[in-house]
Amino acid sequence: MKKDIFKSYIETVKPYEPGKPVKESERELGLRHVVKLASNENPLGPSRKALRAMRKALQEAHYYPESKCFYLVKRLVQELGVTEDQIIIGNGSNEIIELIARGFLKEGDQVLSSATSFLVYPILSQVCGADYVSVPMKDFRYDLRGLLGAVTEKTKVIFIANPNNPTGTYVSTSEVEDFLSKVPKDVLVCFDEAYFDFVDVPDFPHTLFHVKSGKPNVVVMRTFSKSYGLAGLRIGYAVGSPQVIGYLHKIRQPFNVNAIAQAGATAALDDRFFLWRTKHLVRWGRRYLYRRFDQLKLRYLPSQANFILVDCGVDAEEVFQALLRQGIIVRSMKSYGLNTWIRVTIGRRSQNALFYRALKHFLKKRVKVKGV
Ligand SMILES: Cc1ncc(COP(=O)(O)O)c(C=O)c1O
Repeated sequence: MKKDIFKSYIETVKPYEPGKPVKESERELGLRHVVKLASNENPLGPSRKALRAMRKALQEAHYYPESKCFYLVKRLVQELGVTEDQIIIGNGSNEIIELIARGFLKEGDQVLSSATSFLVYPILSQVCGADYVSVPMKDFRYDLRGLLGAVTEKTKVIFIANPNNPTGTYVSTSEVEDFLSKVPKDVLVCFDEAYFDFVDVPDFPHTLFHVKSGKPNVVVMRTFSKSYGLAGLRIGYAVGSPQVIGYLHKIRQPFNVNAIAQAGATAALDDRFFLWRTKHLVRWGRRYLYRRFDQLKLRYLPSQANFILVDCGVDAEEVFQALLRQGIIVRSMKSYGLNTWIRVTIGRRSQNALFYRALKHFLKKRVKVKGV
């Protein structure tokens, strides 16, 4: 191929490395049952109400889907108290991030976010030719003052994952208020709240309030992939000002969200019991694993999400491989420079216990070998 048809700023992009699907790992390891605690999915599966609605929707799969996700948008309007022209649905919230990048960024623009955050932000920003600047964290948390200090006239978009992936930490109401009062009005501030439903602290910011009160440069993104258990369907949404949302609608594909996902997500919003069970499981699981990590004398970060970052004190890749051999998939944090840390998704009770036992077994053996 002629070299000059490739864009140099795309050639240097490091592709996203997704967690391996369960079936692929089972095939490769020759195991019958693999426990995947690597991609922050919902271990309860999809809600029954969602499944029923999706089965019904399958019968109409010969039709194109609703282009603007009419029923889901109506349901979200009720749920969130915003207007229809303030919502856009995406093929996962990843697509919304992509629409924002495509819509607002060009070569030479600057995107700001934090170090040790969601890897899709740099990838999609760089693909549009923008410079991605990541501000160091403070105590494993987004440093909003640091972000403000890094703003230049080239800054177009700021991504704030709250709670953050992979740390599980959050920024508070007062920090966000202060930040929004100082950030230039022509910079788009995108709060990525993929893990919003797992939060249980009282000082978590009400970012939707800022959208409702008419701040034109605030966007809030959420997803059905985590608390609603629909990651495989790819569906998420953003809420923002009619001006920004209308602009994003112009650049999306006409049928960007499939009909099955629309039906599943709409029904999932009505499955209160499923959401309650999920939240309960995650909160219980967090407390369980904190206790276990304390017993193992491991440092971990208290989390507001459905995963925990833990320092195992030994090479993370080694921990990952050892757990994998026992059929448990977690995420090594080496690519973030956290060489001895892993991220583990909260699973069902039995899965959390399996993970704990496998980790304890490995660490005991490892320390013994080291001590010889
Ligand atoms: C911070 C954050 N934002 C967005 C997403 C992607 O969500 P979706 O599945 O809706 O594309 C994830 C998924 O891991 C995430 O961690």
